[in-house]
Amino acid sequence: MTQLLVLHNSLNPSASASRAMTEAYLTRVRAANPEARVIERDLAADPLPHLPPEIIPSLFGQPAQPGLEAEAAALSDALITELEQSDVIVLGAPFYNFTIPSTLKSWLDYVIRGGRTFRYTETGPEGLLPPGKRVLVFTASGGVYSAGPAAAMDHLVPYLKVVLGLIGLTDIEVVRAEGMKLPDAAATRAAAIARAAALAA
Ligand SMILES: Cc1cc2nc3c(=O)[nH]c(=O)nc-3n(C[C@H](O)[C@H](O)[C@H](O)COP(=O)(O)O)c2cc1C
Repeated sequence: MTQLLVLHNSLNPSASASRAMTEAYLTRVRAANPEARVIERDLAADPLPHLPPEIIPSLFGQPAQPGLEAEAAALSDALITELEQSDVIVLGAPFYNFTIPSTLKSWLDYVIRGGRTFRYTETGPEGLLPPGKRVLVFTASGGVYSAGPAAAMDHLVPYLKVVLGLIGLTDIEVVRAEGMKLPDAAATRAAAIARAAALAA
């Protein structure tokens, strides 16, 4: 059975373009594959805490002591297990202050763990997640960053590719709803939603 892990991050879900893209994609997936298991986490409504100091041993492959260290490790373990068991990871990624929302950064901080989701080798870091996973990034921004004068300020797509690649997620498809604060936003948004839905085909 296919499992999808969906992470929502918009602070404004009722008006959100990334959320609308995600919902359009999920609607199409559910219609085509009613058996698919979908795990949804709304990290904006229910944020993960910042990493606590007690997570340090687990992050570096050391055993966690009972108490706060074990609690922090357990949350990281649970999030990593969700990721390991999912075939498709859908990231709703609004463009906030030139990069991803801090809610998504917190999730990344829990799942990027030395000795568990990546390791260092003599030839560099190696991702340890099982191969074959697909990542879909549905991102929305007020301005335009895919090309033009602001392209150098896009710290979202390049960053996600680096950080996901570290743990072995390299099959990454990005759909952008850009210019959401510019004229023609409605048409651009509709086109992005259609492109997102088409990925479920
Ligand atoms: C906290 C915050 C920071 C933002 N920073 C940027 C930014 O750096 N560049 C930009 O083009 N738009 C920025 N925006 C606008 C959003 O990217 C835009 O509204 C986008 O549609 C948000 O995604 P959503 O529609 O899925 O909620 C920001 C919005 C918020 C709320």
